[in-house]
Amino acid sequence: MRRLAEHAAVEVWEDELPPPYEKLLHELQTADGVLSMVTDRLDAATIAAAPRLRAISNLAVGVDNIDLAAASARGIPVGHTPGVLTEATADLAFGLLMAVARRIVEGDRYVREGRWQSWGPRTLLGREIFGATLGIIGMGAIGQAMTRRAAGFAMRVLYATRGAPAAAPPGAQHVSLETLLRESDFVSVHTPLTAATRHLLGAREFALMKPGAIVINAARGPIIDQQALTQALASGHLGGAGLDVIDLEPIDPTDPLLGLAGVVITPHIGSASHAARERMAELAVDNIIAGLRGEMPAFCANPEVKIAAR
Ligand code: GLV
Repeated sequence: MRRLAEHAAVEVWEDELPPPYEKLLHELQTADGVLSMVTDRLDAATIAAAPRLRAISNLAVGVDNIDLAAASARGIPVGHTPGVLTEATADLAFGLLMAVARRIVEGDRYVREGRWQSWGPRTLLGREIFGATLGIIGMGAIGQAMTRRAAGFAMRVLYATRGAPAAAPPGAQHVSLETLLRESDFVSVHTPLTAATRHLLGAREFALMKPGAIVINAARGPIIDQQALTQALASGHLGGAGLDVIDLEPIDPTDPLLGLAGVVITPHIGSASHAARERMAELAVDNIIAGLRGEMPAFCANPEVKIAAR
């Protein structure tokens, strides 16, 4: 806020809940720049309703909440925050993997409910992580950070990407999505949400997975067909899921996923370490200041943009 205030008159949406869409449309009518959250939908209509807008800066690496084509068509650069949240997000994804495999959250509930009567040889048995096969979908920075964590657990790492990745990370083997699904004990999603990745994992893909396999998603909810996932879990085919993101956030408290054992859900906190959020805030501020000056932000999600002359 201090740095922003040196460069612009700043209006802040202070509520815990995001501004309603209509409110956002209204507020943007007079804005030169917007520093948005993943919960703010900056679609073509919003951008069209903001005649003065010349800079967008998203406090996130993912930009699926923003219509990049509409921004580029208007000469508006869209800043985002890659890199600084990579390790924090991989920590959380790996944490979910461990929590589901070893039933950590269930164990905590068991203790709090007063059910811990004795040590039992068959109490809360889970899946072994050490030496298991991890399938990583999408091998960008966060996928590579997962690969490094998996190495510490002697995991066999398979990965699938749509294009060829720039460099295969050491110890990981590139395979087709189908092979990855057939052979992995854990499947973790690390790809951006785009038109091509929406519902990338659905009924067909879950059916290909090993019985008892576990799905992890700390990317974006809609990459998974949630209804199909719920069915694959409820039927007992899949062994569990660790989800930091879901289709429609926040999750409806009556959602059937919440009634399934073996499911751990966190409220989209992948990058929520103190250090990562500090660095994201600094980057988001750098990006918006550059945009307002008519310069390219250092981290631009639409690098093809031709910045409109003022
Ligand atoms: C958070 O979801 C991000 O994309 O940074």
